[in-house]
Amino acid sequence: MPATAFTPRVFSGIQPSGGLTLGNYLGALKRFVDIQNDGKQECIYCLVDLHAITTWQEPDDLVRNTREAAAAFMASGIDPRRSILFNQSQVPEHTQLAWIFNCVARMGWMGRMTQWKDKAGKNAENASLGLFAYPALMAADILVYHATHVPVGEDQKQHLELTRDIAAKFNHDYKIDFFPITEPMIEGPATRVMSLRDGTKKMSKSDASDMSRINLSDDADTIALKFRKARTDAEPLPETYGELEERPEARNLIDIYAGLIGQSPDSVMTEVAGQGWGKFKPHLAEVAVETLAPITGEMSRLLGDLAEIDRILIDGAARAREVAAPVLARTYEIVGMISPR
Ligand code: TYM
Repeated sequence: MPATAFTPRVFSGIQPSGGLTLGNYLGALKRFVDIQNDGKQECIYCLVDLHAITTWQEPDDLVRNTREAAAAFMASGIDPRRSILFNQSQVPEHTQLAWIFNCVARMGWMGRMTQWKDKAGKNAENASLGLFAYPALMAADILVYHATHVPVGEDQKQHLELTRDIAAKFNHDYKIDFFPITEPMIEGPATRVMSLRDGTKKMSKSDASDMSRINLSDDADTIALKFRKARTDAEPLPETYGELEERPEARNLIDIYAGLIGQSPDSVMTEVAGQGWGKFKPHLAEVAVETLAPITGEMSRLLGDLAEIDRILIDGAARAREVAAPVLARTYEIVGMISPR
């Protein structure tokens, strides 16, 4: 089959299932902004509210979290005129393509997803069907735009591999080079920001302990307190990043610092080598506040006009549909569904 040249296009999404964390910011959002500002590719960014309800969400919380996430995107630098910003449920082509992908993906593939195993745990019988099918919807999110590049944190790697498998199986089964084999973009020092309480666990908006994460909505005092209380060991910082291999908590704070200042962890070590935590932690907190305070401030300003946020999302959805509708129509045709021409 001759390889089709697909227009470079970036797609990514964030679940509005709670407030966003520093992990979401450094692993995803900050990079979304950089990619947009590079101006090389069309960017489509989505608040995946349909993914959020795979676990229970209070309806009022979902509305609030979706608007807050939209505000966080814009406050971080996503310009809704240059990028398309919308909420997933308003573009029905996602779920329509997801159904086709439910029929392409195999039960065995889905059952091997570590996120499914972690979230469903021992109680899989009681998990929603949506949680199991989640990665097929994620593949549809991406492929309904023929997106070629997907910036995400490390935890989404396996889902992106599945997206490639679904695209490849569809292309193979229908003997057509129709869906691109998407490239994951997992780059930079902070693709896996860990909990401040446990360096072996991902920083997550769903962690029971608020002290484990920095929220984008935290004020300066809270940020300083959380870094001060962050778990570390007793050793000072070494000369090289490699020496942090067995020190997950220390390495995490270095990764966060490197992510915040936009440098590699190796070059950061030359600046901080020999420092004790009493010196490094307050400095880290200061840098985090410098980055986050303007974003938090701008978020509250934007949240002062909810109608405007809703208008931006609805406008984004209309523009997204213009890209998605022809891809879905062609998919239906390939699959053999009679539809109007
Ligand atoms: P979600 O909402 O869990 O996270 C959104 C993005 O933030 C990244 N991230 C992190 N990066 C570094 N360190 C962390 N501690 C951390 N926590 C989260 C995630 O890797 C992600 O990039 N399934 C996705 C949402 C989704 C999606 C998509 C993404 C749905 N459809 C299509 C890309 C393309 C998720 O649950 O992300």
